[in-house]
Amino acid sequence: MSRIDLMELVRDKIKTLETYQVENQNEGIKLHANENPYPPPPKLLNKIFQQMDDLELNRYPDSDCSELKKVIANRTGASVEQIIIGNGSDELIQHLMQILCNEGETVAFPDPTFAMYSITAQCLGLNPASFPLNDNWDFDASSVLKILGKHQAKIVFISYPNNPTGNCFSEREIQQVIEQFKGIVVLDEAYYDFSEKTFLEQMEKHNNLVILRSLSKIGLAGLRVGYGIFPIILAEQVNKVRSPYNSNSISQWFASEVLSDFALVQNQIDSILEERARLMDELSKLSAVVAYPSNSNFILFQVAKDGEKVFNNLKANGTLLRNMGSHPRLKNCLRVTVGTKQENDQFLNQLRKATS
Ligand SMILES: Cc1ncc(COP(=O)(O)O)c(C=O)c1O
Repeated sequence: MSRIDLMELVRDKIKTLETYQVENQNEGIKLHANENPYPPPPKLLNKIFQQMDDLELNRYPDSDCSELKKVIANRTGASVEQIIIGNGSDELIQHLMQILCNEGETVAFPDPTFAMYSITAQCLGLNPASFPLNDNWDFDASSVLKILGKHQAKIVFISYPNNPTGNCFSEREIQQVIEQFKGIVVLDEAYYDFSEKTFLEQMEKHNNLVILRSLSKIGLAGLRVGYGIFPIILAEQVNKVRSPYNSNSISQWFASEVLSDFALVQNQIDSILEERARLMDELSKLSAVVAYPSNSNFILFQVAKDGEKVFNNLKANGTLLRNMGSHPRLKNCLRVTVGTKQENDQFLNQLRKATS
């Protein structure tokens, strides 16, 4: 019988990390994970059931994801060689750090922002360095460039729009960072379909730019599909660290179908955008609530007091939000994903009661 001290074997940097907590609930409404509240259109679901045989699930998937890349190339104007498919864009965040950073080197990002930049950096033994956002949740390029220089950062991640604040940072400041930073600027456009703002066309002029996108926010969260558009030299390096079958056959096929017949999903996006405007409007009528402008499919808002209590109250009534209150800049802040009209009405009714 072996009885060795397993924790002795674990890297020190991993021991001190905490597990990323993903809250969930089986009943009620889920407005906590920035998912699309609408299921995939029946036309698409029927098609996948009819074509299941053609997918040859006994075979490994296409390691190159050729069909899906062609569809993405068509939609974005990027070349197939620039595109890498990820098992969610999370995976590409990790690969970027793996190909660019030696242990101890710095990865930078704003604060607050998407937690995975810091978590992934720590898992890889890198140095996460954040630069604070101002009260408008924006930054100025000159102070960011100073921080990047001080740490000799290799990569800066810019969530555009930013999760959890919801806004797009000033284009001019981002532009200046792209032009002056001697490392890689990653524009994480996971919420692009809701903002329609992109730095993609800048890739022709600047070879230090990477664009990441996700299909999780527009209906395929369960299939885990993200993609990156890279300078070809970097795409080649990512292909060295990517596991050869990181994207499964069903995900590749479904994502290709969604992106080639986008009108079906665009209808859902349009409804979400309409509901976002209505939610903002309703939230602005609540005196105990400050809602921040959003370019994404979620809204960050602050309640006057007891954010935790409000969160728990809604949760007990079947509405799950994301409680952001543990972040020092986000005291009493909650994040709500834009749901269906019915879900949003339920959320608003409960919030009105909980804050009155
Ligand atoms: C800014 C940002 N980037 C990336 C991701 C990861 O998306 P995916 O589901 O494609 O891994 C998220 C998910 O919440 C996000 O908010």
